[in-house]
Amino acid sequence: MQVRQPAVGDAFGAVLRRCWAAGGVPGVAFELVERDDGFLTAGDAARYFAAPEQWVGVERWACDQATGRVLDVGCGAGRHAVPLAAAGCEVVGLDRSPGAVAVTRSRGVRAVQGALLEAGAELGTFDTIVLLGNNLGLLGGPEQAPAVLGRLAGLARPGARLLGSGVDAYATDAAEHHAYHAWNRHRGRAGSQVRVRIRDRMLATEWFDYWFASLAELSAAVAGGPWRLAVAEEESAGRYAVRLDLVGRRPPAAGRATGLSTGSRTGPRNGPGVEPVDWRGIGPGNGPGVEPGNGPGVDGR
Ligand SMILES: C[S@@+](CC[C@H](N)C(=O)[O-])C[C@H]1O[C@@H](n2cnc3c(N)ncnc32)[C@H](O)[C@@H]1O
Repeated sequence: MQVRQPAVGDAFGAVLRRCWAAGGVPGVAFELVERDDGFLTAGDAARYFAAPEQWVGVERWACDQATGRVLDVGCGAGRHAVPLAAAGCEVVGLDRSPGAVAVTRSRGVRAVQGALLEAGAELGTFDTIVLLGNNLGLLGGPEQAPAVLGRLAGLARPGARLLGSGVDAYATDAAEHHAYHAWNRHRGRAGSQVRVRIRDRMLATEWFDYWFASLAELSAAVAGGPWRLAVAEEESAGRYAVRLDLVGRRPPAAGRATGLSTGSRTGPRNGPGVEPVDWRGIGPGNGPGVEPGNGPGVDGR
């Protein structure tokens, strides 16, 4: 019997477009994340339109530190780009999904279609680079991370900061995630890497790597490169955010913090918030706990 495979295309963008066309409300469009061991998760695309007060604390903590000219890497539907622009930052979104770029533009923020590793001088340079919604995952893995961090440093102004959020793949009790970590190690990958694709109806994206690094793994990847891990804020279920400072250059020009937390500093641990996208194929709290450093398995992890 013949089995047809989905056509390769902008499945993620299709989900965002459909959700946005309906006003960004829940119950309309769902993102299916397929991990390369067959593990499948579904998430309502409405979370990509969540307002700052619905975010988890570590994301507000990160955005509060954004100043000046901001590059939002993997901007999606503009969940962070839109409020950062409203707070006075000059924001440029970057996303490889044409649909994501179209949605962000329709919300009034400049966005450029392209892959992170191909981003070049045409974007200009930035005071702040954000990798939010677990987009530290775009570092790809321990081998790819130095090249990605180096590329981002090339887009950074003196004194720039990189604000990113992530999830520790090992902070899970789910047996299927622990098994995935073990399989990863067996095939020579870090346990915390995931290879996933996004599905929507007859479409699938290409397979791509996403890295749910533990803080220890992230720290090791950053060491010796152009960025210094300045602060890490941890939240429940293995969620965290970090601020990396560009090494050896002067501090950023006085810029006003965005204050997205409306005055009082909203720190992590302040509230549940809308679960940021978790492509671990793993979800925090869902899976087994693989001890840090050893490898795979997250909700999508
Ligand atoms: C988990 S979503 C996060 C979206 C958004 N930051 C948010 O939190 O709502 C990851 C985004 O990164 C984009 N992306 C994935 N790989 C990329 C790459 N290599 N270069 C640029 N964007 C990428 C995807 O298209 C998607 O929009």
